[in-house]
Amino acid sequence: VALVVLKTRADLINWRLNIAPKKRVGFVPTMGALHLGHATLLRQARLENDFVVLSIFVNPTQFGVNEDLDRYPRALAEDLRIAESEKVDVVFAPDVSEMYPTGHSTFVEETEFSKGLCGDFRPGHFRGVATVVLKLFNLVRPGRSYFGLKDAQQFLVISKMVLDLNLDIKMIGVPTVREADGLAMSSRNRGLSKEDREKAPEIYRSLLRVTQGSSSIAQEIDVLSKLDFKVQYYERRPFESGHLVAIAAYLGSTRLIDNILG
Ligand code: PAF
Repeated sequence: VALVVLKTRADLINWRLNIAPKKRVGFVPTMGALHLGHATLLRQARLENDFVVLSIFVNPTQFGVNEDLDRYPRALAEDLRIAESEKVDVVFAPDVSEMYPTGHSTFVEETEFSKGLCGDFRPGHFRGVATVVLKLFNLVRPGRSYFGLKDAQQFLVISKMVLDLNLDIKMIGVPTVREADGLAMSSRNRGLSKEDREKAPEIYRSLLRVTQGSSSIAQEIDVLSKLDFKVQYYERRPFESGHLVAIAAYLGSTRLIDNILG
């Protein structure tokens, strides 16, 4: 069966109405510029559901005024090829005016897990994420939804929203997929210069040194700063039953995040 690409809410609602109630619908929300991390989410969704829906939408409400909304990579043609090869059933790729018609005035705010880490440096970011994800959930009405754990805080915020707002959706967090040199896959890696791309895996090496106990977070902030990383935060925090060591740092104009869960 051919890939179905839908652009409007009406078409998606209509598609969903024709799915039998017993069928399992798995959902992978993305902002496109797909890489192997996304493909891994799609593969897991394919294994666990009868239908797989992929959304591709660069959500303006989760970007701050000085952030990279305009620079965020867009690659729809290539994304559709990946979607097809991963046997996605439906791609939902709406325009901004379709998701945020003029006059849109309702937002969703999770007020606990959205504090600290990226929440401190990206005011309004998780509000934008929670809002768009809830809007997408209401259209797709999935049984399961898949998220990469590179965005660990995002996973916590959305999971809490699902719990607090009584959504009947199973949240599935999928381990970070890395390049051969350890760099966490991210659409933003496309923005790195050749030189910065070579330096970027130092973030993961640093996380390994901290989690393996051969170095401290304070020492590592120093190490990375000397390599021209501008560290925003580097913290250890509780995460579900274990803990998380998470970092955000700029390399040139590209903001990179990564973490190790233990
Ligand atoms: O992780 C992302 O790509 C985005 O934050 C998401 C979940 C698709 C919401 O826009």
